[in-house]
Amino acid sequence: MNLKTLKDAPKLAGKKVLVRVDFNVPLDDKGNVKSDKRIKFALPTIQYLLDQKAKQIILMSHVGRPKVNEPNLKTDKIAVRLSELLKMPVAKVDDWGEKGIPSDQVVLLENLRFNKGEKSKVEAERDTFGKQLASLADVYVNDAFSNSHRAHASMTSVPKYIPGFAGFGVEKEVAALAAALEKPEHPMVAVIGGLKADKLGAIVNLMKMADSVLVAGALSFSLLKSKGLDMGASKIDDEGLEEMKDVVAKVLKAKNVVLPVDAVVADKFAEDAESKVVSVDKIPAGWMALDLGPKTIKDYVARIKEAKTVLWFGPIGVFEFKKFATGTETIAKAIAAGKGLKIVGGGDSASAAEKLGVAKDMTLVSTGGGASLEMIEGKEMPGLKVLMK
Ligand code: 3PG
Repeated sequence: MNLKTLKDAPKLAGKKVLVRVDFNVPLDDKGNVKSDKRIKFALPTIQYLLDQKAKQIILMSHVGRPKVNEPNLKTDKIAVRLSELLKMPVAKVDDWGEKGIPSDQVVLLENLRFNKGEKSKVEAERDTFGKQLASLADVYVNDAFSNSHRAHASMTSVPKYIPGFAGFGVEKEVAALAAALEKPEHPMVAVIGGLKADKLGAIVNLMKMADSVLVAGALSFSLLKSKGLDMGASKIDDEGLEEMKDVVAKVLKAKNVVLPVDAVVADKFAEDAESKVVSVDKIPAGWMALDLGPKTIKDYVARIKEAKTVLWFGPIGVFEFKKFATGTETIAKAIAAGKGLKIVGGGDSASAAEKLGVAKDMTLVSTGGGASLEMIEGKEMPGLKVLMK
């Protein structure tokens, strides 16, 4: 993907730069930041702009999915956390329309989604809002990879009015994903877990390029149910499977899609549940599969060890409960020990990698589960398309 990057930008000294970041971070009910991972992710771009002596860095982000101006989704506490990380003041701007922007070098706008124009389905309305935002600065930077699958005003309209470039975070994520998807070194292995059937779109595209697509998590038990097996009380995305019936049939026919042969099952969804290992065709009535079984883990790990490209998206088992964390731990460590390209994406898999101390060994821990999966699915990324050379 040939993106215009910050290094292609004209001289930034003395310029006002509008940066779309993804500070859609988890907040508690008082608006305090619970995880600053996404804020830290934007620091290299912000620091670069400071080093280049940009006159002003105007940061903007959405937070959550507000219906109205929800006070607990304001960006105030995010500005405070950013200020601590940058060790300099960050002014929070409530109303940049009427009152204008204070002269501080770094400012953070209020939640973009408080303005209807941001997510409007009508392009002209998005463009009106985008033009208003663009009027604040000379140059636009997108450093919100995780929101680049959204055709929102701050992503696609702003660069219609001022020159737009990809920030370092976007550049890094796109480069790693493009290396895996466009010219992967083989063997290529994808590990896809989680609950929702909406990951099947990514599996279909991966089936075309990967040597093995190893399915894990509740999704794998859902597919086994579609094959006609009795999954007991396991969590199944029945609605999603019904909606994607044709895709499910395609996935079940593919020779390179691998499903579990055994599972760790539990008599209830709890840390202290009674558990045992069974073959996937022998799940007792009322029991639920909460992790991959040892035979499956051994097979998956063997394939991962051979791989030169590995993509891992979605939880493998219920790793929050120690008893059901073996699949996640063993597979995460096997991926981390590999020598090739290793990409982990999605909130839960990224947290698992961090919790296990292996995030640092990955080529990329993607900030955007949804965005990365859409890229893997082969969908167009509107926020990136507008930044192509
Ligand atoms: C994300 O968290 O995946 C991005 O910030 C996009 O948020 P959204 O799914 O609410 O559009």
